[in-house]
Amino acid sequence: MNIAIIGTGYVGLVTGACFADFGVNVICVDKDGSKIERLKRAEIPIYEPGLKELVEKNLREGRLSFTTEIEDAIRRSLVIMIAVGTPPRGDGSTDLSYVEEVARTIAKNLNGYKVIVTKSTVPVGTGSLIERIIKEECPENHRFDVASNPEFLREGSAVEDFMRPDRVVIGAKTEEAKAILKDLYSPLYLIETPFVITDIETAELIKYASNAFLAVKISFINEIANLCERVGADVHVVAKAMGLDKRIGPKFLHPGPGFGGSCLPKDTMGLMDMAKKQGYNFRLMSAVIEINQEQRLRMRDKIKHMLGGTLKGKTIAVLGLTFKPNTDDIRESPAIDIIKLLLEEGAGIKCYDPAGMPNARAVLGNSVTYCQDAYHTAEGADCLVIATEWNQFRNLNMERIKQLLKEPVLVDLRNVYNPQRMQKMGFRYSSVGRC
Ligand code: UGA
Repeated sequence: MNIAIIGTGYVGLVTGACFADFGVNVICVDKDGSKIERLKRAEIPIYEPGLKELVEKNLREGRLSFTTEIEDAIRRSLVIMIAVGTPPRGDGSTDLSYVEEVARTIAKNLNGYKVIVTKSTVPVGTGSLIERIIKEECPENHRFDVASNPEFLREGSAVEDFMRPDRVVIGAKTEEAKAILKDLYSPLYLIETPFVITDIETAELIKYASNAFLAVKISFINEIANLCERVGADVHVVAKAMGLDKRIGPKFLHPGPGFGGSCLPKDTMGLMDMAKKQGYNFRLMSAVIEINQEQRLRMRDKIKHMLGGTLKGKTIAVLGLTFKPNTDDIRESPAIDIIKLLLEEGAGIKCYDPAGMPNARAVLGNSVTYCQDAYHTAEGADCLVIATEWNQFRNLNMERIKQLLKEPVLVDLRNVYNPQRMQKMGFRYSSVGRC
């Protein structure tokens, strides 16, 4: 089977490489010519463990190709997956102009039955919109189906998530489209992956509901953590005991500076906007978003408190800039937001991240000092803040860090270190939801 994947961003590239590894012939399309040239040489524009090897292997074995020729890719493929960007507009709504543009191009190049699938996260109703556009703009009367097949990949473990998903969701109108998409995923039958086969609208909403629920869990545990600090309880023990209840589950109950990234913030806003357009006030979602934004302010206040109530003139060493470890993505990163808040109050920032420095530099420019490693960052600072829990920050030589810091102050926003041990070592230590 030939499939075309339009858009070689995060989702498109991972999906393309993984389907090729399933034995499908995949043509990945992007209008950015220089990106396509680099991809043809297996140069990966994003940091994603395992992806380069997969692209190299499938290029070599001839199942994966890259092109800017969208018309040709459409004409040669039975399945066309739309994986272009759906950026948020300022008001929380989703910008679908790239999706619409692709739909028009598909319409003009239909040369037989095809299944057009949305992979990008799109508001409910986008499937019908695509169907309308293609019907209106297709010069000939070819048969086609529209389908929704949302992805649930996490940055940093996307390849593993694709190869061993918790579930595959397929939304389509006809049995033919459902059968073709199920066929694409047939290697997953061997590992007994659950398939949810449904209508397009339901599939579209499943994606938002899933991300929004993860966000609910994070904001919930952050509120519990804030309460723990006031009553003298330990949030990790609370989360562990809660998680042992199978109805709750242990995942996504780790407190911290709030969620970030390109998905959870965008999809919570998107779901709220979608509800609003239907005249429904999704109160839980607005609370989740507000709690998440306030968590950044609370983290600033925590750092400020540890520095005696003022940030002016203080040098703060920040470890970790990406929104989570194992990615170079700094979009909506709590670390970056907190740095901006600290700068606003007159603090000086030294920072380091194993993969996110080039992206951070593009946003923070010369307002901060970029360092070579954790120790260089700590040197001469009034306080060390762990903002993102990269593995290499989990086992730092804390004696050395203490010697390098001007003051032995450690603000551990990811609860990496043991409070009692740090206090015993002579640190003034603060974390989230633990006393
Ligand atoms: C998220 C979802 O987890 C994926 O299932 C989904 O496919 C993806 O969005 C998407 O829509 O494309 P991702 O944004 O890569 O994946 O990152 P997560 O691992 O979900 O983490 C999101 C944020 O939540 C991070 O800032 C992380 O630090 C934070 N988080 C996560 C917590 O603060 N506590 C937790 O317990 C878990």
